[in-house]
Amino acid sequence: MTSASHRAMQKLPVLVTGGAGYIGSHAVLALKDAGWEVAVIDNLSSGTREVVPEDVPFYEGSIADRGLVGRAFAEQRIGAIMHFAGSIIVPESVEKPLEYYENNTIATHSLLSSAVEQGVRHVLFSSTAAVYGIPEAVPITEEEPKEPINPYGASKLMTERMLADTAAAYPMNYGALRYFNVSGADPDGRAGQIGKGSTHLIKVAVEAAVGKRDHIDVFGTDYPTPDGTCIRDYIHVSDLADAHVRALQRLIERPDENLVMNCGYGKGPSVLEVLDALDRSLNQPIRREMKERRAGDPPTLVAANQRLVETLEWSPRFADIETIVKHALEWERQLQRGLGK
Ligand code: UFG
Repeated sequence: MTSASHRAMQKLPVLVTGGAGYIGSHAVLALKDAGWEVAVIDNLSSGTREVVPEDVPFYEGSIADRGLVGRAFAEQRIGAIMHFAGSIIVPESVEKPLEYYENNTIATHSLLSSAVEQGVRHVLFSSTAAVYGIPEAVPITEEEPKEPINPYGASKLMTERMLADTAAAYPMNYGALRYFNVSGADPDGRAGQIGKGSTHLIKVAVEAAVGKRDHIDVFGTDYPTPDGTCIRDYIHVSDLADAHVRALQRLIERPDENLVMNCGYGKGPSVLEVLDALDRSLNQPIRREMKERRAGDPPTLVAANQRLVETLEWSPRFADIETIVKHALEWERQLQRGLGK
């Protein structure tokens, strides 16, 4: 067997940071389903342990705690990291920028220092379309200028840069996956978005659908789009998790290459089309209130996703808004009944 084909079959134990959070928990499930060994580190600031399978070793605490991270690396013989832990609410990042640089950039510096010290070779990082700011061209390619318009996007972009420099200096490669609008939930109801105080359209809409809110605001109806509301590229969280497993496999197979890629479907519905899909799923309309535009919302954000599709041979399973809202709604109903029921 050549060393290349040997590598291709390798499955290193993976530490998932933020594995009790929304996207991280789906990545844990996807890794386990594909036969990988997984451990989780999470400080439970926004996630919940209930979405982490019981047989997954769990380290409760910060990724900036060098002692804890070192112990996890050693005990689990970690060979790769999927790094999701961080803060993700855009408006909050504007109010508390230092918190965002602390949680997203400085904490990652600490995690990477531990990784270099202990010889972890592969790091896959959770980045965001927010690194592009307001794009000049849509669909957005990875070469589009990176000019974030809020501290959230800036903190993620800084981390991308730190990863690139670190991977160049040490025996490590990295991937940065720039997510568009992540949504939906595990089709088998094992995980979904908990999102205390979420501001994301589909989460807010399904909360309205189950009666946790009385209506949904539509922010802006005069955008230069066919129905006047913003268009987004909503990607199902389980398709995104699958992209992570493929990306990790690729990083292990090709240790001299890094990966930077958009994660989206290359198309997407408007706000009104999302709400129409949910109304169909419910068989009744949710009350909508037409509001002024929300500050900082570009009219259309859609990913150019050729790199993802071609490099990782990724073909999504849930690329339609009906399925995405259906899974989000099923999860929200489950949350209302109480997790695990
Ligand atoms: N919207 C509403 N009503 C709501 C919530 C949202 O009309 O109650 C609209 C927004 O105005 C926007 C669209 O729905 O037009 C999508 O908004 P989200 O808040 O769901 O998502 P964003 O597109 O603002 O944010 C996403 C990611 C961020 C990322 C950003 C980068 O969730 O993490 O894209 O552009 F930073």
